[in-house]
Amino acid sequence: MKAVVITHPGGPEVLQLMERPRPSFAANEVLVKVAAAGISRPDIFQRKGNYPPPAGAPEDIPGLEIAGTVVETGADVIRWQTGDKVCALVYGGGYATYCSVPEGQCLPVPDSFTFIEAASLPETFFTVWTNVFDQGKLQPGESLLVHGGSSGIGVAAIQMATALGSTVYATAGSDEKCKFCEELGAAKAINYNTEDFTATIARLTNNRGVDVILDMVGGNYTPCNLQSLADEGRLVMINAIKGKDVQVDLSLVMRKRLIITGSMLRSREIAFKSAIARNLEKRIWPLLASKKIKPVVYSVFTALHAANAHQLMERNDHIGKLVLRFDS
Ligand SMILES: NC(=O)c1ccc[n+]([C@@H]2O[C@H](COP(=O)([O-])OP(=O)(O)OC[C@H]3O[C@@H](n4cnc5c(N)ncnc54)[C@H](OP(=O)(O)O)[C@@H]3O)[C@@H](O)[C@H]2O)c1
Repeated sequence: MKAVVITHPGGPEVLQLMERPRPSFAANEVLVKVAAAGISRPDIFQRKGNYPPPAGAPEDIPGLEIAGTVVETGADVIRWQTGDKVCALVYGGGYATYCSVPEGQCLPVPDSFTFIEAASLPETFFTVWTNVFDQGKLQPGESLLVHGGSSGIGVAAIQMATALGSTVYATAGSDEKCKFCEELGAAKAINYNTEDFTATIARLTNNRGVDVILDMVGGNYTPCNLQSLADEGRLVMINAIKGKDVQVDLSLVMRKRLIITGSMLRSREIAFKSAIARNLEKRIWPLLASKKIKPVVYSVFTALHAANAHQLMERNDHIGKLVLRFDS
């Protein structure tokens, strides 16, 4: 098969399209002929050598989400058959023309979606579901602040939380990104380069604060996040771009009865990821089919040009998702 390989840790140029053997598949797995693979920020960290893949994942082929056609099924697979069109959260190895995946981590390609659109969904939708709704316990009628509102994660979080009945605020780094977040459903998007999000959230919520914050920034955002939470608010961390060693005012945590939590999805077990898939299929897939939630694909690259896709992501100019295409 063809695969985009990290030839050694480094810049985007280390990604090379090469021949590799097809992956084997276990009794509980399907083998998918990949039509498209989503690109996620963790792929960049892996390429740079800062994010070693978990044991058992392909060492040098990145890619955490795919869409394509099932071509073979393991002996214990119940749901899927050869020819089924699926999208899936994978352990790694998504940037390749074939990828094996536990059957529970597959979802049907939503009605009328292209493979490119479907490949843009799994990594961000699984991450948002488990962090915002499971860990953060966001309820209809509550409010959510999403940092990085125009990121792949951000555009999924804004749409999912809005569709399920929450008021969503977002931050992003330009007016153009903020406008897009509001078009997706955010009640207000705050340009963090020109506005203090803590003051704006206080004003918008009449000093109450929000119920849940989804944050990948950390660092000096953390005291501001705690300030911006309502009583019994939940801060959910999915990265710490600006630093993991942070200052926390514990008296504020106690006074407001706050919860600080977070998670990393990639290393979680198959049963955990499969349970998220079933929740997404029940609660979110109908909203994709009815177009209440839309895929946001900013740009598509052929596998040969994977390096250009990583360059674009590292410039941070994009809004939503970047996707790799594998032509048959
Ligand atoms: N814990 C988990 O399980 C998990 C799973 C998936 C992703 N994540 C994390 O979630 C975040 C979003 O992922 P994604 O795939 O949606 O990424 P993405 O589309 O590339 O978006 C990242 C956004 O973060 C903002 N940003 C600000 N400073 C940055 C910096 N120094 N480096 C990188 N980005 C910066 C940028 O928007 P502005 O211009 O608006 O600042 C950028 O567009 C990443 O940090 C990723 O590691 C965590």
